Amino acid sequence: ETGHVTLDPGFTNTASTTSAITYIDGEAGILRYRGYPIEELAERSSFLEVAYLLIYGELPTADQLDRFTDRVRRHTLLDEKFRNFFTVFPRQAHPMAVLSSAVSALSTFYQDNLDPFDEEQVDLSSIRLIAKLPTIAAYAYKTSVGQPLLYPDNSLGYVENFLRMTFGLPTEPYEVDPEIVRILDMLFILHADHEQNCSTSTVRLVGSSHANLFSSVSAGVDALFGPLHGGANQAVLEMLERIHAEGGNVEDFVRRVKNKEPGLKLMGFGHRVYRNYDPRAAVVKKATRKVLDILGKSDPLLDLAMRLEEVALNDDYFIERKLYPNVDFYTGVIYKAMGFPTNAFTVLFALGRLPGWIAQWREMINDPATKIGRPRQVYVGPGERHYVDISER
Ligand code: SDX
Repeated sequence: ETGHVTLDPGFTNTASTTSAITYIDGEAGILRYRGYPIEELAERSSFLEVAYLLIYGELPTADQLDRFTDRVRRHTLLDEKFRNFFTVFPRQAHPMAVLSSAVSALSTFYQDNLDPFDEEQVDLSSIRLIAKLPTIAAYAYKTSVGQPLLYPDNSLGYVENFLRMTFGLPTEPYEVDPEIVRILDMLFILHADHEQNCSTSTVRLVGSSHANLFSSVSAGVDALFGPLHGGANQAVLEMLERIHAEGGNVEDFVRRVKNKEPGLKLMGFGHRVYRNYDPRAAVVKKATRKVLDILGKSDPLLDLAMRLEEVALNDDYFIERKLYPNVDFYTGVIYKAMGFPTNAFTVLFALGRLPGWIAQWREMINDPATKIGRPRQVYVGPGERHYVDISER
C-alpha cells in the first residue's frame, strides 16, 4: 500500500523521492490525497478543506477550517502598487506568463519574511499565495479585456470571490449559480495535487536550492504552461475547435493521429503514470453535461469530445498504448461554458494545483534527506580533442 515504484533500468519510472502526500496507482486508476480517495473528496469536501489536508496532513476540525478560511480571507488584497504590475503587459499577453511573473514579483513585498526554515514565515507565505493567486488571475484577465479591476469581496466564499473578480463589473451586481461555484470548487479539488508531475517536480527542484516558496511556485507555473502538461486543457479545446471547423470528422482526425502526422496528438489523452482511465477525467466528464444544463447551453464540442473518446477507446492503436482520457480532456468544455477564454484554462489548473505545490515544497524543505537537485548525466559527446586555430579549420 505504501510501496513506491521500483527502479526501472530505462530510468523512466525511477522514484525520485519519497512522499506522504499523494498516492497514484496508474494501472488501477487510483488517486488519493493523504489516503482519501479523490472521488470522496470531490463529492464531499471543499477546495480550502483539501488545501488544508494536503498542507497539514489531516482533515481539519470545523474550528481549524474556520481559522484557515479566515486567514486566507484576510490576505486576498494585493498591495495597491502591485495593481500597476498588470498594466505593463500587452493586452494579448498569455495569462500564464503574467501569473508566473506576478508570483515571483509578489515575493518582493515580503522579501524580509521568506526564510524557508522559519515555519511561521512559510505558513504565512502559503496563506498569502492561496489568498492572492485568484486575485492575480482575475486581474490578469480584467486587464486583458480592458475592464476595471474589482477588489476582493471577503463576504463571499473563495471560489465565488474569484468568479466575481473575474466576471463582475463595478456597474452592476454580480450573481452566479451556487451550483456553478460548487462545480468549479470541485474542479480545483481534482487538480490540487498529483504526486511528482512535471510542475510539482519543478517546484521541489527549485526549492531544493532554498529558493523561497514564491520563486519555486513561479517556476511551477512556467512548467505547467507547457502544452504536454497543464497547457493541454487549452490544447484540447483548440483541437476540438479545429476538428469542428474541418467538418467534425472524428474518424479522419484519429486516422491522422495514428499516422503520426507532425504535431498531431490526441490532446487530453495519455498520461505518464495512468495506464487506465484517469479517475479525475471520469468526474469531470459527469460534471460537463451538468454545467451545460445549468447554464442552458449546448456545445457541439462536447458531443465531439465524447465521440472522439468513444472512437479512441475502441481503437487498437490507443488500447495497445494504454491511452485514456486524462484530467484535461473535458475540463476545457466546462471552462468555456463558464465564460473563461481558452487561454485562461491553464490558469485555472494552476489555481487548483497551488496547494499541492505548497504541500510538496514544504515536505521537501523539511526532509533532511533532500539535497540540492543536481541530476547527473551519461556523457555521449566527443572525447578529448585540442584547439585548432581558425586559419586551419
Ligand atoms: C497532465 O504527470 C502528471 O500527473 C500530469 C497531470 C497532473 O495532474 O499534473 O496529470 C496533468 O499533464 C496530464 C497530461 C496532459 N497532456 C496531454 O494531454 C498531451 C497529450 N498527451 C501526450 O503528450 C502524452 O500522452 C503524455 C506526454 C501525457 C504522456 O506521454 P508518455 O506516457 O511519455 O507516452 P509516450 O510519449 O512514451 O508515448 C507512448 C506512445 C507513443 O507512440 P509510439 O512511439 O509507441 O508509436 O503513445 C503515443 C506516442 O506517440 N502517444 C500518443 C499520445 N500520447 C502518447 N499518441 C497520440 N495522442 C496522444 N495523446
